[in-house]
Formats: sequence, structure tokens, C-alpha cells
Amino acid sequence: MTLTPNDPRLLTPGPLTTSHKTKKAMLHDWGSRDQNFIAMNARMCDRLLAIANASDTHVCVPLQGSGTFVVEAALCTLIPHDGKALILINGAYGHRMGKILDYTGRAYVIHETSEDQPPSIDALDQALTEDPDISHVLAVHCETTSGILNPVEEVVRTVKTHDRVMIVDAMSAFGAIELDSTQVPFDAVMASSNKCLEGVPGMGFALIRESVLAECEGNAHSLCLDLYDQWQVMRSTTQWRFTPPTHVIAAFDAAIDQFEAEGGVAGRHKRYSENCRILIKGMCALGFAPLLSDNLQAPIIVTFKMPADPAFDFQEFYDRVKENGYVLYPGKLTVAPSFRIGCIGHLDADDIHAALAVIKRILGDMGVKNGAPTAA
Ligand SMILES: Cc1ncc(COP(=O)(O)O)c(C=O)c1O
Repeated sequence: MTLTPNDPRLLTPGPLTTSHKTKKAMLHDWGSRDQNFIAMNARMCDRLLAIANASDTHVCVPLQGSGTFVVEAALCTLIPHDGKALILINGAYGHRMGKILDYTGRAYVIHETSEDQPPSIDALDQALTEDPDISHVLAVHCETTSGILNPVEEVVRTVKTHDRVMIVDAMSAFGAIELDSTQVPFDAVMASSNKCLEGVPGMGFALIRESVLAECEGNAHSLCLDLYDQWQVMRSTTQWRFTPPTHVIAAFDAAIDQFEAEGGVAGRHKRYSENCRILIKGMCALGFAPLLSDNLQAPIIVTFKMPADPAFDFQEFYDRVKENGYVLYPGKLTVAPSFRIGCIGHLDADDIHAALAVIKRILGDMGVKNGAPTAA
């Protein structure tokens, strides 16, 4: 991998390790009204739509800010004031969509399962049958809280059988886990520059079915977050409404070049799956236990249960691993104390093997005999 020397390797869910090429793409300044920059934007949107095989049916609407900005923008643009959402929740990002709807004053109900359980398709089907007022269903593709892969294909098909609008937060999955709009007919999908497409943070985007977005004028409560307005203005002027994150877009353009050279979603999925396999195997050899079984684990981020060994102190472990060049991620689970290690970013099998060697040495230095958690 073309990494910047001496930079820490981020084993996190993003921002994540980016290639030297991607960082180097930011060494220029662009005028936001300049033709080269405008062409770069058009290319970016076209390529993002192509990743989801959605060029004929959907439009790409980019937005400044982190992933949550585009999630909030999509929800408040797409759900009218008299709409009602059903949110499938099994982690923090499902809950966050509920919080957004609280702020924006939209009605919603939830179907919640624990952080290590996917939603029930039967329960979804029943909720939609029993409540005709539900107009929109919101789901998270990979719930990064645990790393669980939610059954988005079945969810989308069920929602479409009931003819409701389907919105997917695919923040941590887009580009690494296939989502083909011709097979899985979602109405909107949101993601950001700094996850599996390996750009730098600062921009999100939504791919929205054009016929759905065309009906959304006046829904948004916020000018900045109005994706209908952003779409209309970009369509007529080819320019962003407000100062665009020029350097982020340039880096994203370079990152998408590398994504395509790697073989697109298939190539990225292959590398991340290999990272994930090596990580779990290596950690299990040290006694650690992943939260999820293999069939629920997305190759994005792995949650490990906290070891029971009294010599293990997470903060000390984290600090020592970081001193040796690898940044881990704290846990966010309510069901069990845990920590997380990401498999995504510009890292390959050699990096994961090297991280495992550091982890093994540090556990030895700390006097931790075994990474096994307390028996449940
Ligand atoms: C599934 C999911 N949704 C939303 C977000 C929020 O993105 P951000 O932290 O960039 O606002 C994240 C961040 O990791 C995520 O994983």
C-alpha cells in the first residue's frame, strides 16, 4: 500500500487511513467556479451513482459536513411534515436517526433488536401491514456500533412490496458491500467520503431516486440541509450552493480512481474481507472473542468483548498500541463491555499481521495471559 511514512495506521471506522496519493491530491487550490473543478464534481457524482448501478434512476446530491449531516439532510428532505417513519434499530446509528426525527418533528415508530441481532423481517412486514400511515422505512446497512451486517436486501424488498419509501444509511458499507439499485430498489442511500471509498472526511452524499426527490420541495426545515434545493441549484448551475469542500472533493476524486483500479466494490470487499478474516483469526488465537458470529459480521469493523484478565486495562492497552503506530477504537455497545478494531481504510493483510504482532507483544508486556472475556 502507498502509505505516508510514520503516519499511524487507523484501525477505526473512519476517518481512516488514506493513501499517499489521496493526500497528495490536496496539494492544490481550486476555484469553486472553475471549469476543472466543476468537471471533477460531475465526474464524482457520475461515479458514485455507477457504484450503486443507479445512474438511470437516481441522482447524486453531495453535501458538506460529516456523515450525520447528510443523514439529517436526507431525512428532513425526504420525509414530509405529515409523514411517519419506521426505524429499524440495532445500534447507535439507528438511534441517531430517531434523534434527528425528534429534532425535526417527524413522527416515527421503531422496531428495535439488540446490538447483536438483525431486525425481524416478519415484524417489519407486520408493522407495514398494520400501520398504513408509515410512509418511510429507515435502516442501517452495516451498523457500525457492533459491525453487524443488516439484511438490507430483504428489508428493501419487503418495504417495496408495501410500496413505502426506503432510506438506507449505508455510511460504513457503501463501496465495500454491494448495493445494486436494480436488484435492491432503495429510494435513498447515504454515505460519506471518508469510509470505504477511502477519501478524507468533510463530505457526504445521498443517492436519491429522482422521482421521489422531485416530490420533496418545501419539506426541509433547514436551508443548509435541503437536498431538494441543493439538487435543483446544482442541476441548473453545475455548482454547489455554498462554498464546496474543494480539497476533500479532489482527494475523493483521487480515491475513487484508486477504488476503480482495485476492481470497484468486488475488489474492495475482497481486501476488507481478508483483513477481517486475518484479524479475527489472530485475535482468537490470543483468546479474544468477537461479539458476532461469522454470518452476522460485516468485513468493516469487529467488536471484541473486553477480556476478563485483571491485568488488562483498555486505556493502557490502547495507549501502548497507539505508541506503536496503530489506533484502535473504543466500544459503543450497551449489551457488553467491548472494544473495536476496524478492517477498512488503505490497509492490507500485511498491516493487519503487523498490528496483531504489536498487540501480542503488548499483551505480554502488560502481563495479560489471555484475551478471553468473562463467561456470559
Ligand atoms: C452507519 C453510520 N451512520 C452514520 C454515521 C455518522 O457519520 P459521522 O460520524 O461522519 O457524522 C456513521 C459514522 O461512523 C456510521 O457508521
